[in-house]
Amino acid sequence: MNNEIKIAPSILSADFAAMGAAVEKLEKCGADLIHCDVMDGTFVPKITFGGDMIAAVRQHTLLPLDVHLMVVNPQNQVRAFAEAGASIITVHREACGEDIKNVLRLIKNCGARAGVVINPDTSLKEVYDCLELCDLLLIMSVYPGLGGQKFIERVLPKVEEARRIFDAQGVAKDIEIDGGITEANVRRVKDAGANVIVAGSTVFNAPDMAKTIANLRTL
Ligand code: DX5
Ligand code: ZN
Repeated sequence: MNNEIKIAPSILSADFAAMGAAVEKLEKCGADLIHCDVMDGTFVPKITFGGDMIAAVRQHTLLPLDVHLMVVNPQNQVRAFAEAGASIITVHREACGEDIKNVLRLIKNCGARAGVVINPDTSLKEVYDCLELCDLLLIMSVYPGLGGQKFIERVLPKVEEARRIFDAQGVAKDIEIDGGITEANVRRVKDAGANVIVAGSTVFNAPDMAKTIANLRTL
C-alpha cells in the first residue's frame, strides 16, 4: 500500500518571537504540515505554548496544523485545540491510560484527525486495541521534551510492525515518526514504513531550508 511522504517541520526549533514569519517560510519552502509541539511542564519538563499559539499560527498558513500534545489529561484540552485550528491532534498513550479510545473519539467529534503517540519505551501492543480508531500513529524516536536529540534506532522494528498491521488490514494509515530525523537516517525510517516525517532542528538549522525539506522528501 502506498502512503504519500509528508514532511512536517516542528516549530519547536523556530524563533518563538517571529513565529508568523517562520511558518510562512516553512510553507514557501515546501512543508506539507506544520508540527506543533505542545508541552505542559508536567508530562514533560518544559512548557512551550498552548491553543493561542495554534490560533496565531493558523493566521499565517493554509497548511494543516499537526498538534502533538505532550500534556497530562489531554481530554481536557482537545476541544480548545481543535477550535484553535488544529487539523490533526495526537495524544500520548502514556498520558491517556484506559481512557485512550474516548480521547480519540473526542478528537474526531471535534472535527480533527486523531492520532495516538507512543514513547520509545512503549510497546506497540499498548495501542493494538485503539489503532482502528486512529487516523495516524506517531512513533517517538526520541524521548519527548526536547528538540535536537539523537535518533533512537531501536524504535524502527515498531514502525515495521505497525506498517505490517496496517497493510494486513488493507488500510493506508499514516505512520509518523518524530525525533532526531536527519538527511542521513530518513531513508531508513521510510523503508521501515513511516510516511510522515517530523523534523525540527534538521530543517531549522539547514543553510537552505527548501533544499533540506526536498531532500527529506526524496532521499
Ligand atoms: C520532541 C518533539 C519533537 C521535536 C523534534 O519532544 O516532539 O517534535 O521538535 O525535534 P528534532 O527533529 O530536532 O529531534
Ligand atoms: Zn513532536
